[in-house]
Amino acid sequence: MSNQSLQAKQSSKTRFGVIGTGRITRRLVADLQSTDNVTVTAIASRARDRASWYANQYGIANAVEGYEALLQREDVDAVYISLPPSMHAEWAIAAAESGLHVLCEKPLALTADQAVSIDVACRSGGVRWLDATGWLHHPRTESFRDWIRSGRLGDIGHISAAVSFYQPFQSDDHRLDASLGGGCILDLGWYACGLVRFASLGMPLEVSADVVIRENVPQRLTAMLWLGSGVTATISCGYDTATRKWFEVAGSAASLICDDFTRPWPERATRCWIHDASGLVEGHEFEGCQERLMIARLVGEQALTEWQQNAIDTHLILDAITQSLDSGGARVPVRQTIG
Ligand SMILES: NC(=O)c1ccc[n+]([C@@H]2O[C@H](COP(=O)([O-])OP(=O)(O)OC[C@H]3O[C@@H](n4cnc5c(N)ncnc54)[C@H](OP(=O)(O)O)[C@@H]3O)[C@@H](O)[C@H]2O)c1
Repeated sequence: MSNQSLQAKQSSKTRFGVIGTGRITRRLVADLQSTDNVTVTAIASRARDRASWYANQYGIANAVEGYEALLQREDVDAVYISLPPSMHAEWAIAAAESGLHVLCEKPLALTADQAVSIDVACRSGGVRWLDATGWLHHPRTESFRDWIRSGRLGDIGHISAAVSFYQPFQSDDHRLDASLGGGCILDLGWYACGLVRFASLGMPLEVSADVVIRENVPQRLTAMLWLGSGVTATISCGYDTATRKWFEVAGSAASLICDDFTRPWPERATRCWIHDASGLVEGHEFEGCQERLMIARLVGEQALTEWQQNAIDTHLILDAITQSLDSGGARVPVRQTIG
């Protein structure tokens, strides 16, 4: 579908169709429904009953059986994909080929090559895409960037990030199914690698990784990353410790510390701190809903290249981590670009 016919198809609001009925859907649908100039017109499930149940629960007018049927609807301009990771590329590309904008859950895909295929399909279809990595869209993240770029922290020496949660899984959880892209590398390493990419303002050059496998999937990942100018980073991710979603960017003058970068703790101010060498702590608090800002950005007119490149680069780092694990933890180079 051309850009022109896409615009003709669009009403004044961008009409989203939801693909999948997972746990995260509940939260994101509420964010879609409360974003200006956005509405949710349909939800699709593999099973008609489940689609109907969710449509009733969320106040969505249309329940659809099958994902393909949702792509063919006249009342859908964009899709929100909340499927297991192994299905993201297939349905994001199918949506783009149907002329629909794409908001795809993280991880964007399984590999950097798949991520680029999504980007290519969306460009050919004349549609916009974002991965649903909310923290990158929070106003707090702009301040992170300003402090890192301005030299407020001095010269950056080391970055560390830890993302985990402790939750016994149901045996049918996609996170325990390697064939669906399960395991903590893609699920949580996505955030930690994305943070390193963001905070270093560049790409790691080399990585070395170690993993604990249980129930056939990675349950704990530890990795070391080497960046340019002697900067290093460490990441820790897993399903076997209590919730951690924090980072430290350590510079020669001060450290930037955040204890909830992936999503602000509920019922608490959105916060972060700068600690200097004398023990002085400068606290900062922020307002704003990162998911609504992300959705507004997708349906707006601003170029999305910055976030799209971040997603592709994050996959390049994850690819290198997998390659290191396949070679027994060897220090391996990170591909800097595709192609
Ligand atoms: N951005 C965030 O903060 C955040 C938070 C949590 C999760 N996520 C991401 O969101 C995505 C979905 O996660 P979730 O926890 O919501 O997943 P989930 O509860 O397991 O739901 C996934 C949905 O995918 C559909 N599906 C299709 N084929 C499937 C299969 N073979 N096995 C299982 N489900 C299948 C199912 O819907 P139907 O059967 O009804 O079609 C299911 O409800 C993942 O990529 C995850 O990493 C993001």
